[in-house]
Order: sequence, then C-alpha cells, then structure tokens
Amino acid sequence: MEAMAPAVWVKKDLIGIRDLSRGEIEMILDTAPQFLAVSKRASGIKKVPLLQGRLVVNWFHEPSTRTRTSFELAAKRLSADTLSIAASSSSSVKGETLHDTLANIEAMRADIIVLRHGCAGAPHILAAAHASHIINAGDGRHEHPTQALLDVFTMRETLRRQRGNPELGLDGLKVAIIGDIEHSRVARSNIHALTKLGASITLCAPATLLPRGVERLGVAQTTRLCEALADADVIYALRMQLERQSRGLLPSIREYVKLFRVDRDSLRYAPDHAIVMHPGPINRDLELSTEVADGTRSVILQQVTNGVAVRMAIMHLLANSGGARRARESQAS
Ligand code: NCD
Repeated sequence: MEAMAPAVWVKKDLIGIRDLSRGEIEMILDTAPQFLAVSKRASGIKKVPLLQGRLVVNWFHEPSTRTRTSFELAAKRLSADTLSIAASSSSSVKGETLHDTLANIEAMRADIIVLRHGCAGAPHILAAAHASHIINAGDGRHEHPTQALLDVFTMRETLRRQRGNPELGLDGLKVAIIGDIEHSRVARSNIHALTKLGASITLCAPATLLPRGVERLGVAQTTRLCEALADADVIYALRMQLERQSRGLLPSIREYVKLFRVDRDSLRYAPDHAIVMHPGPINRDLELSTEVADGTRSVILQQVTNGVAVRMAIMHLLANSGGARRARESQAS
C-alpha cells in the first residue's frame, strides 16, 4: 500500500522520484496550478514574494538550456536572488571537491542548490552532508525528478481537459516511452512517477537501448513501435543521446528512423486522442518528425510552460514548509 498524502512536506531535498511516496508526488502536482496562474497573469507582475531574500544557486556541471533557464525563472518568479555557477568556470577545474565548493557557497548563505552533475548519486551525497536544500536537476543516467514531475503534471492537466474532469488522476493511463531508454534519466524518473501514480508503461526501443533488468520496474517492453503505440494515451519520445553512443549500440541512425521514429506514418497505429511529448532538446526528424513535433497532438511547449510552475512548487515546498524547517533544525542540533 502506498502511503497516504502527508499533511505537510517534510523532505529537505528532492533527489529522486524513487524516494517519493504517491502522496508526496501528488502534493507537488496539486501545488503547481497556483504557480501556473502566477506565470500566466495577463497583466500585472508575474511574481510572488514566497522566496524573497533567499538565495537559489544553479550549479550545472553539464550543458543545459531548458532546465537551467526554467529553474532560474522559477526562482525569480518566487522573488529569490539567483546565482549561476557553470562547472567550466568554477574551482572544480582547479581540483576543489564538490563538498568544498558547496561549503563555500553555503558560507555565503545559499538556501537552495540546484545541481546537475554527470555522476549518478552526486546530489544524494551532497544532500546528506549539507544543510541547504538540494534539488537534483539530472545526475548521470540516474534520475531527473523535476522533468518527470512536469511531465506527469502535463499528462494530468491534458487528460483532465480532454475528458472534462478536473479531478482525474493518472490511474489506468497508458504511456509509451520510445527511444534511447538505456541512457535516459528522464525515462527512469518517469517510470517511477507513472507507476506510483497508477499508469501503465510500455517501453519501446531497439533491444540494445533497452536496459537489462528494466522489467523489474513493472513495465512492459517491445521492439515493435506499432505494438507500443496501439493503445497509448501518451506517446513520450526520448532524445537519441548521440553524445553517449560511444559503444555502437545502433547499427545506423537511418535504420532507427525507419523503425522507431514517431511521425505521421507511425502515428497511424496510435489512437486519435494520443498526445505526443518530448523532454527536449529534440533531434528534429530523428526521434520525432518536425510535422509531429509542431503538430496539434504535441504538448511539448506546454511541458516547458508547466516546468516553471512545477519547479516553483518544488522550491516553495522545500524551503517554506514547516516540516522541512523542522527537519533542518533537528539536523542542525
Ligand atoms: C534531458 C536531460 O538533460 O536529461 N533534457 C532536459 O533536461 N530537458 C533529456 C536529454 O538531454 O535528452
């Protein structure tokens, strides 16, 4: 049995979806709409003072445009001060350890650290040893929890609109995740989030890009795209991580396009109501045809809009809930 929704948020950090209960995931999803309303204000100021006087540090050791700007905007819309540290210009290139760099950032009284790192587990190790709130913005192939939360939020909002029911959850939703699952922290976090919320998942990829042991996570898998799309409510295409294809896991990109690309032809196998999602950045016409990426089924830009609101909700819950404050104080004492 999943734990019931806790009355208050108690976790200091957001490290992975695997650590969250269904209740905690739902608390984030239920907090986000008020922040979406702030971002969508047609007139007036797109800001609330919930993190006024607090310092949010974006600390990115890997390239990112979308996630970094989304966090920065979320912090600014909460009225926080923001600071960005790029790994290439930080003292890590001079040999400083992550712990020392973070201790120095904390000595300047940072409150929230948004960390992206190539090593799986880096945010977890820092969170256990430091008092600031750590948010994992992607660690190696491990997890990308805020991406999964904005994804399930987008699925829930779309489903509620499509079916005219503002209370609907994701129980029974069928999601096909297609592409480079082997290298994808986005897929891993989404698998955890969707299974906890009661959705069912089919992974579809060439056999070499389906990680071994993935069936233990309670998902179906297939190497035939038509099979994955047949009853999908949501089609989630992943970016082909060309920079990580060092071991020749694909015979050819042309073959991948022919067999696995989500395009007008392959979409014929999917139900009419199925929506198309992608975490970005898109390799246009490789995993997704331009026509579909920009078409009426695509909610890709809604994912980006929702991402800011979901990240505002997360930062607000971590930094402002009584439970989180108490956890921090007991850790300090
Ligand atoms: C993803 C990432 O970096 O893990 N991008 C993102 O955060 N929007 C997915 C990817 O790079 O393929």
